Amino acid sequence: MPVHIKASPGEIAENTIAVGDPGRVDLLSGILEDARVVNTHRGLKTVTGFYKGKRVTIATHGIGAPSASIVFEELYQLGARRIVRVGTTGGIRRDTRIGDVVVATGAMYVQNGCGLGQYIPGLCGASSPDPVLTTRIMEALSKNGLNFKKGPVFSSDAFYAEDPSFAEKMSHYGVVAVEMEAAALFTLGWMRGFDTSCVLVVSDVLHGEEAMKKYLTTEELAEVFLKIGKT
Ligand code: HPA
Repeated sequence: MPVHIKASPGEIAENTIAVGDPGRVDLLSGILEDARVVNTHRGLKTVTGFYKGKRVTIATHGIGAPSASIVFEELYQLGARRIVRVGTTGGIRRDTRIGDVVVATGAMYVQNGCGLGQYIPGLCGASSPDPVLTTRIMEALSKNGLNFKKGPVFSSDAFYAEDPSFAEKMSHYGVVAVEMEAAALFTLGWMRGFDTSCVLVVSDVLHGEEAMKKYLTTEELAEVFLKIGKT
């Protein structure tokens, strides 16, 4: 049994959704059948059940790459073979609007950031999601009438260090939005051998008039998360 997720191998499904907030595990596990809580240790609430007959685990990864990496590693040790992060993001590209859905096609991070400097000293991680899984997710989103934007995100280690000048710089580098865990997820996926993907909801934007002024409420976010979850 791993150190943080106190579950047995049989209790984690091959298909796993990982979210930062345990409240979102409660929200999404509401659409599962036969949902069973398999971990609450460290506040990393994890639930396994069935969606449309398929076994699925929904796990909390906490905030930031160090917490999330522990959870991704342990989910993999316990049998997860596909991990899709569903989370929030701050819009960087000027066309991103609050409430938009963004599919991450890659993740930038600062040199040695996201804990990855300790995993792969002196090198940059292969921080891209699995292309086949990501294409399938984008097709399913479109089929369910959910419009999305796609492109690389920036995985930050410092939520409160970001400001409009940071957004302008990142936008210049082609970054669509900022979040905190995708680079660690994608890189660990290639290192350990599990498939990854990341679907995000824009909860705030760092550009224009609304920069850092408005944040989607838990209820507003819940609506979009449920639509993504049902995909
Ligand atoms: N920065 C980093 N992570 C985030 C943000 C943000 O503005 N919004 C949601 N997740």
